[in-house]
Amino acid sequence: SPTREFIAGLPKAELHLHLEGTLEPDLKLTLAQRNGIEIPQSTVEEVEASYQFDSLASFLAVYYPAMDVLVTEQDFYDLAHAYLLRAAADGVRHVEMFFDPQAHTVRGVPFADVVGGYHRAAAEAADFGVDAELILCFLRDHSAESAAATLEASAPFKDLILGVGLDSDERDNPPAKFAAVFARARELGYLLTMHCDIDQVGSIENIRQVIEDIGVDRIDHGTNIVENPELVELVRARGLGLTCCPVSNSFVTSDMKSTEIVELLRAGVKVTINSDDPAYFGGYVAANYMALAEHAGLSSAEVVTLAKNSFEASWITDEDKAAYL
Ligand code: HPA
Ligand code: ZN
Repeated sequence: SPTREFIAGLPKAELHLHLEGTLEPDLKLTLAQRNGIEIPQSTVEEVEASYQFDSLASFLAVYYPAMDVLVTEQDFYDLAHAYLLRAAADGVRHVEMFFDPQAHTVRGVPFADVVGGYHRAAAEAADFGVDAELILCFLRDHSAESAAATLEASAPFKDLILGVGLDSDERDNPPAKFAAVFARARELGYLLTMHCDIDQVGSIENIRQVIEDIGVDRIDHGTNIVENPELVELVRARGLGLTCCPVSNSFVTSDMKSTEIVELLRAGVKVTINSDDPAYFGGYVAANYMALAEHAGLSSAEVVTLAKNSFEASWITDEDKAAYL
């Protein structure tokens, strides 16, 4: 079975990573102090002890309030810079990073400061061998109107953003709610992805909507297609990437879903392995490959396939893909 050194040494792309999910406890405390934000914890141990969740909803209830410590352009830069250094150490050469502007603009943080700080860190990452891009995520538990306004606010920064996604609480917030916003995003030239979270109510119908009605270029999680052979075949035939997150799965469902992920991989679906919210789930990308490989008994060749899939499912040009593969 492949070693950690082997996994970290493989060039990889990371395609499902929330920048706000990389907020480590020590940085949270530093930013709270720097910005004079009162938070309920004062030590790393206390912050870690507050990370109690066993479902997507209970995770999100911890995750969103923590973002209050992010205020200035420099805060967003510091957060992304710290993640990108860790990613480089894990062998990540290309990353497409989600960010949630509405979580900040609702608190009065200017959109330009969020994108500005994140983009400054992304551009600098070239100095240590990481090519970094941004994907703007809409919060699906907010209104379609709020998403539409956020999309229009992004237009001046279009050249700094590769695509749009959809995250937060999937329950009662199906893809169809955002059909018009995503159609407009496509018109503006963005690539499209959406979360289809693990074991959600109506998961299969939501996945069908993202493929057939929205016409996404990738699916985040989407592991539940395994229940539906027709969807598996559709995703395989279209070469749609799935961005799976084993360690995250084990927190929100108490199961890594390794059986399902490996079944899809062996069926020829472009499965990729990612860290989702590593500061909260305690594992960056190499740890996710490692956990899956150990749990499912993957061969080194299968781990190499997962790493190749990560570039194939990425949104870089075919020419750039050829350079990595
Ligand atoms: N699903 C939904 N919302 C999220 C996730 C996720 O995996 N990670 C961060 N916000
Ligand atoms: Zn996610």
